[in-house]
Amino acid sequence: MNIQIKDKFFRPFLKEQQLKDRIAQVGADITEKYKGKDLVLLGVLNGSFIFLADLCRSIHIPLTCTFVKISSYEGTQSTGKIKNLIGIGENLNGKDVLIVEDIIDTGNSMKHMLEQLSDLNPASVSIVTLLYKPEAFRFNYAIDYVCFEIPNKFVVGYGLDYDSLGRNLTEIYQLDTPQLTKSGMYNIVLFGPPGAGKGTQSEKLIQQYGLTHLSTGDLFRKHLGEGTELGLLAKKYMNEGHLVPDEVVIKMVEEKISETKDSKGFIFDGFPRTTAQAEALDQMLAKHGLEISGMIALDVPQDILRERIKERGKTSNRVDDQDDEKITTRIQVYLNETLPVAAYYEKQGKFQNINGVGAIDEIFGQITSVIDSY
Ligand code: IMP
Ligand code: MG
Repeated sequence: MNIQIKDKFFRPFLKEQQLKDRIAQVGADITEKYKGKDLVLLGVLNGSFIFLADLCRSIHIPLTCTFVKISSYEGTQSTGKIKNLIGIGENLNGKDVLIVEDIIDTGNSMKHMLEQLSDLNPASVSIVTLLYKPEAFRFNYAIDYVCFEIPNKFVVGYGLDYDSLGRNLTEIYQLDTPQLTKSGMYNIVLFGPPGAGKGTQSEKLIQQYGLTHLSTGDLFRKHLGEGTELGLLAKKYMNEGHLVPDEVVIKMVEEKISETKDSKGFIFDGFPRTTAQAEALDQMLAKHGLEISGMIALDVPQDILRERIKERGKTSNRVDDQDDEKITTRIQVYLNETLPVAAYYEKQGKFQNINGVGAIDEIFGQITSVIDSY
């Protein structure tokens, strides 16, 4: 049965019995190999605790168990992460150490383990890992015992976590990535105050990348035109220059996405406008196996915005484009509520700011170079 942990969906991957059978085999190999030696199982916390518990009971020679934790913290420089072993109180001098890992992915953590262990003068150091992702592995040290080679997909359960959850699952699950998350699909949030040029740039992006335009403004107007229940509700808020409630917006967006499942991607124009909406959008997209590629913000000073909106108001017949007070409200609402959304995406490393003043093609060029870097 598929399961959900936070925003992600997982499907069954390795059954309890498969794990049990394979661990018994590997335990037998280790028993054979380490007869007459001074074996220390060195578990790497947190992930290996369940694997080690089962593995050590399928090894039938005297052994000791001890644990380490790799603490990683950011350096003050941009040199990346510095890792340290904590918890080795044991004297490993002359011992035959078998490092027990739940998973070797890039192999980076294990490399640090190996380096730091060699300072402790053990007689030998070998590695046993429950899972190994050959496609992700970036080093060339030997991994002595591998229970399962797996594809480069995120897994959870049997000690392995997603965001600290899922360790107590009795079997291993794999991240469910439906077809739509294939690379080459761009889901872009185009961001900017009213009058920033989102509509114009969206049209060009749709042509260039074959994306589907998802403007909440357009959705509202469509629902309005068709007189749907959601439309009538939205109208009341729009005419007052206010935001439409999140549940209404998300429902409209989800409906549109479901109708257009085979699209090459979506441009979210004018949405999400609040952090709450951004979170709701992430959750809703995950349900469909999708995610946001990035947010691109068009930066335009207020006085230029005001001019542009009024100019548009002359031809658009939009009530909210013609009234000074309503324009002010909309810019104010944007400033107060939507800027935190930029911070939300920035935290995920998905935010880019672009100067929205200048020639349309020039601005477009800057946007495409951001998208091509995804
Ligand atoms: P490394 O890339 O080999 O250094 O792996 C680093 C750590 O990332 C592992 O010890 C795990 O804690 C975690 N990790 C890597 N891949 C997965 C996965 O698929 N599920 C859960 N944790 C993982
Ligand atoms: Mg680990």
